[in-house]
Amino acid sequence: MLARRTKALFYIVAAPLMRANGLVYRLLLAPRTGSIKVQLGPGQKNYMPGWINVDANMFTGKCDVWADLRFKLPFRDATIDVFYSHHTIEHLPDLAFHFHELYRCLKPGGCFRVGGPNGDMAIRKFQEGDSNWFIDFPDSRRSLGGRFENFIFCRQEHLTILTYSWLAELATESGFVEIKQCQPGKETSYPEWIDQAVLAMEPETTPDCPHTLLIEGRKPGPNE
Ligand SMILES: C[S@@+](CC[C@H](N)C(=O)[O-])C[C@H]1O[C@@H](n2cnc3c(N)ncnc32)[C@H](O)[C@@H]1O
Repeated sequence: MLARRTKALFYIVAAPLMRANGLVYRLLLAPRTGSIKVQLGPGQKNYMPGWINVDANMFTGKCDVWADLRFKLPFRDATIDVFYSHHTIEHLPDLAFHFHELYRCLKPGGCFRVGGPNGDMAIRKFQEGDSNWFIDFPDSRRSLGGRFENFIFCRQEHLTILTYSWLAELATESGFVEIKQCQPGKETSYPEWIDQAVLAMEPETTPDCPHTLLIEGRKPGPNE
């Protein structure tokens, strides 16, 4: 992981360039027709062929569009069929704005699947005193509280705690319907978009007590 200061400096320097690049892409290059699948934050290993992959990191990972997800997404209104993001939204400072952006860009009837560190399960495991559930990433800690803090805040890289009710509130307030929590790697209401290749990117060491909280939702169709 990059040191926090290095990352902060990167965003100070690169944010205006990423905003400009995102704007140019949205106005001139973003596809307007056809079926369009977008992954936000593929990172170093999760680039998905056939999808438009958007990330700030084009140095150690691969992406198709270099843009800053803290700002307006680089797509036109009502042009996207599906958004997918895995362990990315917890890095964004304004989730209400981000969910509105997902809604703006999706076609009527389009859907999203997003999620990250499972705050509900972390709280449960903390209360149960189950120290072994917490992983040694990014740091190794001995105490239950230390392991809890490590999981939730990840060296202050994470800006929020993801719980189902919080994500459902954000999605509902943006206008989404049929919001559901899904089992990572297994469950989806949208198999036509979220196929086996996508589910394979959601490994879980403890499937009954998942480390990742994922939700799906849909923008109402034209006649709803
Ligand atoms: C923890 S990684 C997750 C990678 C991958 N999705 C996974 O599940 O392994 C978070 C990703 O989100 C990207 N990201 C975080 N904040 C971002 C921002 N403001 N703009 C664009 N990308 C961002 C990072 O560059 C990184 O690739």
